Amino acid sequence: MGSLGSNIISSETVGKVITCKAAVAYAAGQPLVVEEIRVDPPQKMEVRIRVLFTSICHTDLSAWKGESEAQAFPRILGHEASGVVESVGEGVSDLEIGDHVVPIFNGECEKCIYCKSKKTTNLCEKFRVNPMKSTMANDGKCRFSTKEGKPIFHFLNTSTFTQYTVLDSACVVKIDREASMKNMTLLSCGVSTGLGAVWNTADLEEGSTVVVFGLGAVGLAVVEGARVRGASRIIGVDINSDKRIKGQAIGITDFINPKDFDMPVHRVVKLDEFITHEMPFSKINDAMQLLLEGKSLRCLLHL
Ligand SMILES: NC(=O)c1ccc[n+]([C@@H]2O[C@H](COP(=O)([O-])OP(=O)(O)OC[C@H]3O[C@@H](n4cnc5c(N)ncnc54)[C@H](O)[C@@H]3O)[C@@H](O)[C@H]2O)c1
Ligand SMILES: [Zn+2]
Ligand SMILES: [Zn+2]
Repeated sequence: MGSLGSNIISSETVGKVITCKAAVAYAAGQPLVVEEIRVDPPQKMEVRIRVLFTSICHTDLSAWKGESEAQAFPRILGHEASGVVESVGEGVSDLEIGDHVVPIFNGECEKCIYCKSKKTTNLCEKFRVNPMKSTMANDGKCRFSTKEGKPIFHFLNTSTFTQYTVLDSACVVKIDREASMKNMTLLSCGVSTGLGAVWNTADLEEGSTVVVFGLGAVGLAVVEGARVRGASRIIGVDINSDKRIKGQAIGITDFINPKDFDMPVHRVVKLDEFITHEMPFSKINDAMQLLLEGKSLRCLLHL
């Protein structure tokens, strides 16, 4: 066990309910309530983590506002974090007490067709993000409860706005003990999302020109990924001009604030060129045929 791991956790809590502080969301858009909650021990194939750092991603904000995810309250939000394994449940063989870890909301069971595939996707059958999921996969129950014993729901396979959380071991990644725990939180979502988009999904080639819409943490991670891959031009677009400075520090070569342009889109973009055919609605099958044969860009149907 590394020095950080051994200083932060104690073997006395293993197998017991832990009482700790958490920020609980009781209703959409209402301030989080920082209060004492109870955290159950991990069950089969689960681990309990002492969270050391957590940061806030826009996805947490969206869930808090009630724009995404199931409306399950009370709930513990948060998914970007780093911490130390406090205890492990039955059957967990790849993680030990004291391991430094980050939670991963897109977990990997390592057994399903998606996890095994190198080509198609890494969206695990069992532990991929499921917006309706708010309990543990094991038994459909919550490992968090209020001091009065009322269940508190989970979020995005993670729930990190708490000093202790319980995760499926498939949603935990062990990291190097020498790595900065502060910086490693960023790898659980924001920075990995941006870098992954450039390096894996787009597989950007050297010399490319890139446009990045939105220069928040995710967008700036795209910029960073593009810079490292040798993009020759990186155009940052954001409605907040303050983002120009940070963008330039990371690697944008140009900045555009769409609000600086007051021309409506139909005067900037040549839309007419895209309408190659027009037909009555009754001819929809002919219109489909045109597209099938590659003869049209867009056939406009009149209803
Ligand atoms: N794995 C994933 O799919 C994943 C991971 C992380 C975040 N997200 C999503 O990515 C988005 C960005 O997350 P973030 O944490 O970087 O957010 P953020 O709030 O840090 O940044 C968003 C940026 O977009 C800018 N913006 C807003 N509207 C714009 C517009 N119309 N045109 C141009 N710029 C605009 C804002 O000014 C801000 O700079 C969120 O929707 C979040 O939910 C997805
Ligand atoms: Zn996120
Ligand atoms: Zn899987």
